[in-house]
Amino acid sequence: MQERILTGIKPTGLAHIGNYFGAIKPAIELSHNDNYNCLYFIANYHALTTIKTKEDMENYSYNIACTWLACGLDPNKVIFYKQSDVPEIFEFNWILCNLTPKGLMNRAHAYKACVEKNELNNIDRDIGVNMGLYNYPILMASDILLFDTNLVPVGNDQMQHVEIARDIAIAFNDRYGKTLVLPQGVTQKETSTLVGLDGRKMSKSYGNTIQLFSDEKTLQKTINKIVTDSRLPNEPKDTDNAICKLYKLFANESDYQNFEQQLLKGLGWGEAKKQLFIVANEYIKPMREKYDYYIMHKDEVNNILKQGAEKAREIASVNLAKIKKLIGVL
Ligand code: TRP
Repeated sequence: MQERILTGIKPTGLAHIGNYFGAIKPAIELSHNDNYNCLYFIANYHALTTIKTKEDMENYSYNIACTWLACGLDPNKVIFYKQSDVPEIFEFNWILCNLTPKGLMNRAHAYKACVEKNELNNIDRDIGVNMGLYNYPILMASDILLFDTNLVPVGNDQMQHVEIARDIAIAFNDRYGKTLVLPQGVTQKETSTLVGLDGRKMSKSYGNTIQLFSDEKTLQKTINKIVTDSRLPNEPKDTDNAICKLYKLFANESDYQNFEQQLLKGLGWGEAKKQLFIVANEYIKPMREKYDYYIMHKDEVNNILKQGAEKAREIASVNLAKIKKLIGVL
């Protein structure tokens, strides 16, 4: 029996290399394993909590679709769709609202963080909180539970939401009989190697990212911004630094060893950055070419997503009908 893997990709910005090595690459590798049946979707309705304009919504959704295709997502292996193209998810969402204790939502971290910030500032606790943010975990449960999902690859910050989906599934099964599959979250091991320009974890919120698909010049400029110590050329460097960690991601083991040796012998930081650019660019270049292709071929990308949505709806509609019968509305 194949296990089903599902994950949502929030289109809230351009992908950086931390996203690539931490989420995109491992998810695509999973999809090449025949033990798994994968559904990956663009969670555009979840992005509504932060994206406020039509242009941003359209551009980010489209760019992220191009990104995943360029990184090797094969639409014949993965059901790849936009959340908003599958209306069954939103109908199911309402059913799940009625199985979700309000207290469970009070404890969800994104909402709690907003409330705590407001309390610190001595303002009304719910300022800036809308029902999209508050109900966010229920929509996510709907994404997951409608497809009999076994495994949900997510970042650590989303584990709580998968646990909530599980709790909601248990509540549903208690009331209507064992129906929904209980999902399990899986996190990628935090590799300490996903460091940003300043040596901290690469993250949009730290402003220390390297964009995955910038042009070569921009990539070079960004790499030049990596913070180093003040050791001069010819002084031996230690190798516990952002340049080495990044180099390691892009190079094979023996090239990496060679790079380390050069640094220990005093390779200057400027030269080290040049070498990092070369390996990074070699790695990224074929994907960047595919990305540029997809950016120019909008109809092709939209078609892939439409076909993905049809496949997703085949599963969703059967499951939703079963669920509607169980609750007595069909
Ligand atoms: N909330 C997830 C994030 O911020 C995106 C997401 C939406 C998701 N629906 C999902 C992830 C379902 C896994 C499963 O990254």
